[in-house]
Amino acid sequence: MTRNAEFEGWVQAGQELLERYLQQHLPASTLAPQRLHEAMRYAVLEGGKRVRPLLALAAGELATAPLEPLIAVGASVELIHAYSLVHDDLPAMDNDILRRGKPTCHKQFNEALALLTGDTLQSLAFQWLSDPRLGLDPARQLQLVQQLALASGSRGMGGGQAMDLENTNQNPTLPELEAMHLKKTGALIRAAVLMGAHCGPPLEEKAQRHLAHYANCIGLAFQVVDDVLDAEADTSVLGKTAGKDAAANKTTYASTMGLSQARAFAQELLEDALRALSQLGPRAERLEQLAHFIVHRSH
Ligand code: IPE
Ligand code: IPE
Ligand code: MG
Ligand code: MG
Ligand code: MG
Repeated sequence: MTRNAEFEGWVQAGQELLERYLQQHLPASTLAPQRLHEAMRYAVLEGGKRVRPLLALAAGELATAPLEPLIAVGASVELIHAYSLVHDDLPAMDNDILRRGKPTCHKQFNEALALLTGDTLQSLAFQWLSDPRLGLDPARQLQLVQQLALASGSRGMGGGQAMDLENTNQNPTLPELEAMHLKKTGALIRAAVLMGAHCGPPLEEKAQRHLAHYANCIGLAFQVVDDVLDAEADTSVLGKTAGKDAAANKTTYASTMGLSQARAFAQELLEDALRALSQLGPRAERLEQLAHFIVHRSH
């Protein structure tokens, strides 16, 4: 088996574990209120690369964490991510009709239900993460809850989305763009990594610092590549409408630096992330492979 096929096998196994957890733990669409539960399942299941849960699993491998809480942590982060996408696609935000190759939640259902879908996915994330049956030390579990709250809130993803709205039709500088991307996308990716590691015995402070640096770099790189793909890839490959950023007059890394420079910047961030990982020994291999995947992905 090539190295790549071995990694793909690991990815598939991780995705299957997560899918099973999500299938089983999302409220059944036969439960009242049926339409809301149907919309929640629609927004989460069958689609998405599941990069954040995979990062949590990989960071858990680094920290020799047990699998069960890692899946719950990954699933909780994925719920916040799915909620952010449902709201991001609303007419009041990016006004998108296609997500993960399907009509967006508000197109398939309606706007009011899409708002509630996002809200209730967010609550469900914290319900799962705070479940006493996860078997984590309660003080550590409380820290996980706080990590996810910080990463999702006004100093994290939600705040980044607000900056994104302010920046539409403006001309943010590169440092402003970086600050926005680190929040709107970086915060949740960073949380996935650090929360995964937090499920295991504590890492040394130095290792913790290298891991945080890795997480920052790939979080930023993720959105730089998203900007490039929006400008460069086809709708059919992306599963979301291509060319939306330019059409909406958004300043992105692609529009500011140009495509090849933006790609080169993502590559620099990858190398920076890998340098940090090289301090962490062989158990960081999955994190290394995921960093390559994030920067070289096609969708
Ligand atoms: C898209 O995220 C939104 C961003 C934060 C850039 P992903 O590219 O991870 O979307 P899915 O989950 O695979 O659909
Ligand atoms: C979305 O950024 C970031 C979040 C959802 C938090 P984008 O608006 O670029 O994401 P896509 O391109 O619609 O997936
Ligand atoms: Mg957006
Ligand atoms: Mg969008
Ligand atoms: Mg985008």
